[in-house]
Amino acid sequence: MSTYINSLNWRYATKKFDATKKVSNKDLDTILEAASLTPTSYGLQPFKIIVIENPEIREKLKPFAWGQSQITEASHLIAIVNFTTFGDELIDDYLANIGATRGIPTEGLKGYADFMKSKLTPLSDDQKAIWTAKQTYIALGNILSAAAELKIDTCPMEGFDANEFNNILGLTDKNLNTSVLISIGYRAEEDQTQHYKKVRKSKEKLIQYI
Ligand SMILES: Cc1cc2nc3c(=O)[nH]c(=O)nc-3n(C[C@H](O)[C@H](O)[C@H](O)COP(=O)(O)O)c2cc1C
Repeated sequence: MSTYINSLNWRYATKKFDATKKVSNKDLDTILEAASLTPTSYGLQPFKIIVIENPEIREKLKPFAWGQSQITEASHLIAIVNFTTFGDELIDDYLANIGATRGIPTEGLKGYADFMKSKLTPLSDDQKAIWTAKQTYIALGNILSAAAELKIDTCPMEGFDANEFNNILGLTDKNLNTSVLISIGYRAEEDQTQHYKKVRKSKEKLIQYI
């Protein structure tokens, strides 16, 4: 566990990436495997993960992310996009996946499916989008931690205009929304931020034992 904490201390929100260094496909796959293993509410995974390598698309996106250099200079840009709405099919697909993965008939799971549907389907689109966006942040955390274990740098990013990103990435018509971004790659030597001490609340302030 101490190596895990070491990794979390090593990582920082990288402001300047070395644009000449690429993350290998093997390491990228490991990071994406961590994202795919992310637990989600009920296990429904109501999001997609888009890996954006294309430099032209990233140039187009950059002005809508406060001009942040991480968008174009990192090795890869990952967008986690949440479902802005969904119906019973989200749960039905999940059930079919459980059946196929575990080799069991899904009739026995009808009660569970009906329970999920009773909780989720009646939500308004706004409530659904808030719930699905929350799930993306769990994947964000896993991606940051997995990358740090591999000594790969990241910058989590919320500083962007989601509507513009959705248009450029062709998400709007697909009921998808850019929830959060992660630039991944290798820190530039001249990025001074890497030398800053971590600023965190004291454990006394942050944690309460009852
Ligand atoms: C959800 C989220 C969104 C963030 N958005 C940005 C961003 O748009 N640009 C940026 O440079 N840093 C961004 N950050 C980085 C935070 O400022 C940084 O994680 C925080 O100050 C803690 O520092 P550390 O990550 O270096 O330990 C974001 C972090 C998170 C978790």
